[in-house]
Amino acid sequence: MKRHLISAADLSRADALLILDTAEELASLADRPIKKLPTLRGRTVVNLFYEDSTRTRISFEAAAKRLSADVINFSARGSSVAKGESLKDTALTLEAMGADAVVIRHPASGAAHRLAGWVRGSVLNAGDGTHEHPTQALLDAFTIRRRLIGGSGQGAQGQGKGGLGGWVPPGAGGSGGSSPRASTAAGLDGIRVTIVGDVLHSRVARSNVLLLSTLGAEVTLAAPPTLLPLAVSSWPCAVSYDLDSELPKSDVVMMLRVQQERMTAAYFPSVREYSRRYGLDAARMARLPEHAIVMHPGPMNRGVEIAAEVADSVRSTIVEQVANGVTTRMAVLYLLLGGTEFPAVAQ
Ligand code: CP
Repeated sequence: MKRHLISAADLSRADALLILDTAEELASLADRPIKKLPTLRGRTVVNLFYEDSTRTRISFEAAAKRLSADVINFSARGSSVAKGESLKDTALTLEAMGADAVVIRHPASGAAHRLAGWVRGSVLNAGDGTHEHPTQALLDAFTIRRRLIGGSGQGAQGQGKGGLGGWVPPGAGGSGGSSPRASTAAGLDGIRVTIVGDVLHSRVARSNVLLLSTLGAEVTLAAPPTLLPLAVSSWPCAVSYDLDSELPKSDVVMMLRVQQERMTAAYFPSVREYSRRYGLDAARMARLPEHAIVMHPGPMNRGVEIAAEVADSVRSTIVEQVANGVTTRMAVLYLLLGGTEFPAVAQ
């Protein structure tokens, strides 16, 4: 694996599977009374957040602490950034404090890439502008694999396009617990993922298209033309303007937040009109195959891109995605920082 994780494109299929399999091992920690490993003792992880976050920030902090790293939380609000300090000077200050890894969220696309040129430690992109959010894509892939690929060791591999053989429906797979173990070494081959909505402003969509296609999934973006990037034709996915025709073919439907705070123009006539065409309500959810799951990276606009009854339904993996974020980020930190004593988990 590379030293930094800036883009989902940094990950080969083997890298991505190694992270998912490591996360699968680490997930067993969640069932223990003491959820901590000594793996990153003596290492320092800095969380450098220039933009608001709930899930990503908390889960990176929990992940680093569960691996016994020292954690420094930096928020641009209330720091010397307010006095005009640059990203580079802030980074060099953190470097002087001995950061082995810097987790950065920044409103500017490319900020994580710039930071990687200034610090000696590993840089993990926790969301840069409208560019990428690779650990969100990893936790989403982990969630899809756990939910849709059972513990048979066969998964969906080799089943071909649309094949359902070997799949275990939600809640029925693996060891029979509420979070069945996924088949390790299985990709997402043949799984059909439809990503819906504001792709234009979504770093989650870009990272998911890259990672899920690397893992063998067939990805379709369903969105109004105004909310698709100009270069989408070069992305490894299909494009549709008609959500209703995609739903019956989908194993996974991933709803995106309408990012009104990033919108500088009118991209659709009204919120009501958007919801009518691209929102996932109970009637639309009923068009999905029985085994299909509903995802959302959060935060959600309930009643806009997703109805409350869908978000809270048994098909929804939204809370599970948050829990999986901790184990997936533990795996990334462990692999990038070359932790020790990992075999303790398996014992
Ligand atoms: N999914 C996600 O990145 O959520 P936060 O903005 O709360 O971190």
